[in-house]
Amino acid sequence: HRHLLGLESLSAADITTLLDTAEVLSGRFKSQGQKLDLLSGKTVANLFFENSTRTRNSFSLASKRLGADTIEFASSGSSVSKGETFIDTAKTIEAMGADAVVVRHATPGTASLLSEHLDCSVLNAGDGAHEHPTQGLLDILTIRQKRGSLRGLTVGLVGDIAHSRTARSNIWGLQKLGAHVIVCGPATLVSRKWEAHGVEVAHRLDDILPKCDVLNLLRIQFERQAIRPFPSVREYALLYAMNAERMRRAKPDVLIMAPGPINRGVEITPEVADGPHSVILQQVGNGIAVRMAGLWLSINANCNKAGVSASDRS
Ligand code: CP
Repeated sequence: HRHLLGLESLSAADITTLLDTAEVLSGRFKSQGQKLDLLSGKTVANLFFENSTRTRNSFSLASKRLGADTIEFASSGSSVSKGETFIDTAKTIEAMGADAVVVRHATPGTASLLSEHLDCSVLNAGDGAHEHPTQGLLDILTIRQKRGSLRGLTVGLVGDIAHSRTARSNIWGLQKLGAHVIVCGPATLVSRKWEAHGVEVAHRLDDILPKCDVLNLLRIQFERQAIRPFPSVREYALLYAMNAERMRRAKPDVLIMAPGPINRGVEITPEVADGPHSVILQQVGNGIAVRMAGLWLSINANCNKAGVSASDRS
């Protein structure tokens, strides 16, 4: 595919190709001990209209590890403040020679919109509460590395499902690879509509603890909520924080994951975040691998569409 807009529209085979490519490229980078030249001469532009630590820096590092040049655009400090539109901004960056644009924006559908206006590849780095495909991929890759396969696993996504693009990308990707997904959180943040998509819905974390192979702990997205939420942060922590006491009632080999940023003491306590079951930092490392794969596959697909020969691309 020329673009990476979401996991809902990808097949199980597409997702497996992305995961396998991530393993190959990151393995090749590690064994070679220096940058690969797979994207030398190409330019990747990071267009971030929302804050980011993990996604932005790992897309940047992934581009460099493949030999590409990068353009780092942040809306703050840019000519957006002078009234330049989102699409004009993106077209301006593309005109500088970008072969791929990585976009994060608060509005759902913005990556898809850009893909209709630009000739280069577009990779979604998070569009509102819609999708965050590379986050879904890095979460799934981490589980696959730890468990070998997704098939038959029960994965609990706990927290603010209503406002979480990470939850959506995880749901689509995990289900396609054969995992059973439970979404768990207060009724104000977890809709029963997910049952129509084959997802189990639970409102009590304590009920699902014994059956989850993986718990992915999402933060409450206060920035996407118009009014202060119910429950309050204190109530949320009491009912849903993964803590040492809940760990004793979870499966002995449960994987503890979080997309980050984590709020210590709200959705996860420090002893769990930093404990032996936590793979949170392995997730961060896998973020670079899946972004290398997304960039490499998308840019190559776009070259193929433009009729560029394999020798030109190498
Ligand atoms: N998980 C995630 O998207 O983190 P950032 O907002 O720091 O990129």
